[in-house]
Amino acid sequence: MTGTKQLDAWRGDFGDEYTKRNVADDVALCARARMWARILDPLVGDEPKSILEVGANLGLNMRALKQLTTARRTAVEPNPDARERLVGDGVLPKEAVFDAAAGDLPFADGEFDMAFTSGVLIHIAPGDLAQACKEIHRVSSKYIMCCEYFSDKEEEIPYRGHAGLLFRRDFGDFWMTGHSDLTLLDYGFFWKRATGLDNLTWWLFRKG
Ligand SMILES: C[S@@+](CC[C@H](N)C(=O)[O-])C[C@H]1O[C@@H](n2cnc3c(N)ncnc32)[C@H](O)[C@@H]1O
Repeated sequence: MTGTKQLDAWRGDFGDEYTKRNVADDVALCARARMWARILDPLVGDEPKSILEVGANLGLNMRALKQLTTARRTAVEPNPDARERLVGDGVLPKEAVFDAAAGDLPFADGEFDMAFTSGVLIHIAPGDLAQACKEIHRVSSKYIMCCEYFSDKEEEIPYRGHAGLLFRRDFGDFWMTGHSDLTLLDYGFFWKRATGLDNLTWWLFRKG
């Protein structure tokens, strides 16, 4: 997946600008903490001991998870400025931050109890999505979570005036259709008005 239009944008100025706009203030972190408390709730008694985020940016999820779990946290992030923030802000040690992309993850099969995306599958071109999910599925031994923009039908919508950078669909259906070993554990919707999150639909799966 090196060199797709989408990855080139995220690695370059477009990704740098996103990272500058993405503020890790108390309001954002409280919203993420509440989001993760809800997502992890069904896993009480069998919580993941290692968690991979694919496409972490400056780590709003990684920061929230640091407060909620002692699981070993690892991030994949293609944008260099965002990787610098993850390490520079003390969110993760350097060795837990990887320059990679969803379609080609530098990890062993089943290396993490949980692998997840949050606002990342929406930025992968439809033709590359199956490979990205295959890789996320491969490196997770137990749980997969995704939290993305939902649409009943596959569609592309303009993103900050750009074409070809934002795609919506029923990602839960895409996961379950492509991977028959997944069991749905829970799903839901984070309504902007009530949660401060961006109208995100989430799904939590267990392998096997
Ligand atoms: C909208 S941001 C979401 C950041 C973070 N997950 C969150 O929820 O706050 C998308 C992030 O995914 C990264 N990204 C984009 N395409 C990716 C890909 N194919 N594989 C891994 N990361 C990707 C971008 O560089 C960016 O940091």
